[in-house]
Amino acid sequence: MTTPLKHGPPTAIEPQPSFDGVDLQALAARLGTPLYAYSASAIRQRIGELQAALAGLDATLCYAVKANSNRAILALMAAAGLGADIVSAGELQRALAAGIPPDRIVFSGVGKTDEEIGAALAAGIARFNVESLDELHAIERVAQARQAMARAAVRINPDVDALTHAKISTGRAENKFGVSIAEARRWFAERRQLQHVQLDGLHVHIGSQILDLTPFRLALHRVAAFWRELEQAGHPVASIDVGGGLGVRYRAGHDTPVAAADYAQVIREALAGFGGRLLLEPGRYLVAEAGVLLTRVLRIKEGTERRFLVLDAAMNDLQRPSLYDAWHDIVPVASTEGPAATYDIVGPVCETGDTFARARVLPECRPGDLLAIQGTGAYGASMASTYNSRPLAAEVLLDHGRYAVIRRRQTLEEMVAGEQSAQDWATP
Ligand code: LLP
Repeated sequence: MTTPLKHGPPTAIEPQPSFDGVDLQALAARLGTPLYAYSASAIRQRIGELQAALAGLDATLCYAVKANSNRAILALMAAAGLGADIVSAGELQRALAAGIPPDRIVFSGVGKTDEEIGAALAAGIARFNVESLDELHAIERVAQARQAMARAAVRINPDVDALTHAKISTGRAENKFGVSIAEARRWFAERRQLQHVQLDGLHVHIGSQILDLTPFRLALHRVAAFWRELEQAGHPVASIDVGGGLGVRYRAGHDTPVAAADYAQVIREALAGFGGRLLLEPGRYLVAEAGVLLTRVLRIKEGTERRFLVLDAAMNDLQRPSLYDAWHDIVPVASTEGPAATYDIVGPVCETGDTFARARVLPECRPGDLLAIQGTGAYGASMASTYNSRPLAAEVLLDHGRYAVIRRRQTLEEMVAGEQSAQDWATP
């Protein structure tokens, strides 16, 4: 049996009636739910913090497009002078369309196709972050065919535990990313055999949502030692890309993110004396806390063992809880003085994994109540799908009391566009 609703004391949960000066109740009434809302001011503030922390260094921020690839977000990054870290031709196209200059674009990822390498060369991107010898050869081949010169950094796998969720750790030897220092050493020793690749950079990215400076320090010291070794061996290093990974606060009173200034200090110390260009690839840090997912309570279901709060948002809109057991603070939009209740907060998708939170305490809810799932500006909309044939949610940018729709809600027609019945049969 479900325990009867306890009319206990009000929760300590802070409601979120507005964001960036915009009334969220009015916004949801106008645009419907589920709705992603991003604060432009909050994003600009994060950019400013990171830029201030890096003052005096020759450092370029290459925003990790995958975190939130909406063109309006990318345009905001472009306007602030940022570059981009891309992992596909699609992200390249988005970054260029948003006005990010190609000489501030770096291309990471273990599976770049020849077509993607060609498109990046044609665009004139700053660097390829190369993840395998086979890829290095592919870049040489594609660049030769185009009579172009590619600039490349080797992505070092420093075998460091990022102390984060296993699915977003990338810097252990067992992970698919980067190559060992021993292998990178061989690449540099033979780099003059490359006619169309200028191999003169180092790259490292050990994982995401990192809340501790130790793994960053460890990884950067390994990279720094290698940079010094390379310089002594006569291989100048023009750039060091320190990746992304800075964690954010998903759970108030629980997560303690690293301060930008402390992170920058680790970079300054580890790479002291480095005279080349520094690149950083922050994604989450810039946008996660600048986003909320607005969703309405559809109904309350009293199960035999649990009380379920069924929302109109689901795992297709926000995958992080089901993929990584990620915590997101969930708060009411209206200020409620009501008593507290404990809910399992779920979506309508037909999977038990469609659960945003278990045993979460909220002010007692009623159907129609508006909730804000916080910290959803990164890896929310960009990872959404139409699973269960649920159209993609709308997205809106907020800025000092005003809003602009930056993605309209997908229509059912748009959702099935491109599909067709099997009529024109052929043999390959
Ligand atoms: N650079 C590279 C090469 C990356 O692979 C990533 C993220 C970043 C930069 C940006 O990392 P950030 O600063 O955002 O931590 N979907 C997962 C996160 C996957 C991250 C993938 N790579 C999540 O929702 O937690």
